[in-house]
Amino acid sequence: MKTEIPIRWYKCIDSTNSEARRHMDDNDKMSVYAAEYQTAGRGQRGNKWSSASGENLTFSILVHPEPGNRLFSDIHNQFLFSIISALSITDFLSGKGVDATIKWPNDIYVRDKKICGMLIENTISNQAISSSIIGIGLNLNQSEFPAELMNPTSLFLVTRKSVELKGALEEIIGLFLKRYEKLSCESKPEGIINEFESKMYRKGQCHQYRDCLTEETFTGIIKGISEEGMLLMEMPDKSIRKFAFKELGYIL
Ligand code: BTN
Repeated sequence: MKTEIPIRWYKCIDSTNSEARRHMDDNDKMSVYAAEYQTAGRGQRGNKWSSASGENLTFSILVHPEPGNRLFSDIHNQFLFSIISALSITDFLSGKGVDATIKWPNDIYVRDKKICGMLIENTISNQAISSSIIGIGLNLNQSEFPAELMNPTSLFLVTRKSVELKGALEEIIGLFLKRYEKLSCESKPEGIINEFESKMYRKGQCHQYRDCLTEETFTGIIKGISEEGMLLMEMPDKSIRKFAFKELGYIL
């Protein structure tokens, strides 16, 4: 599936998120920066993202929502970029026969292992989202991972089949664009929130978590997400508490 979105491939670069930022003022409505290897790949919480050269996808989508795009330019809807990106990856994996779930906010898991991580950096100007850089690291063909990574997996380890990187990226960008354009025509995000919730890792199950503000552990049940994209958790006393990213730790 070929898309009309420009995709720039690099053999080696520091970080595709940083490269996307360097192209911030280009005129493209949407553009993609992909690397065979990143020397300074960045992950969540200041971590590094490492990926074997030429084996996985490491790329960033730079999107400039038009000011008239009510949903995507609204600063209260920043999580929508996260939702459509996560769902595009689960769409892609589902096409390969893999049932993946979304570990809120946007890690993609196959059973209890991480196959994909995302680092999303939005820019706000004049009280609107003027751009979003969606950095995605998706493990495709890597079969061995450094021991220090907690629970990695790849499409190859799950299916025993390799995929061609450029074709896989075209496919993902096509899926992303389809979701972006569809949601841009809608006035409310309820439909996509329901879809996201139906794919959430551990939803409706009793598991242990850590409250990162108090460092206490508790047993809770993920119920879904709020209108602002916060996680809704049923606490031991049955109350529903909202968690922001970085306030919740999963105990795996
Ligand atoms: C995470 O910690 O789970 C987020 C990982 C995000 C990694 C991707 S790889 C492409 C893009 N460029 C970066 O430097 N980081 C993101």
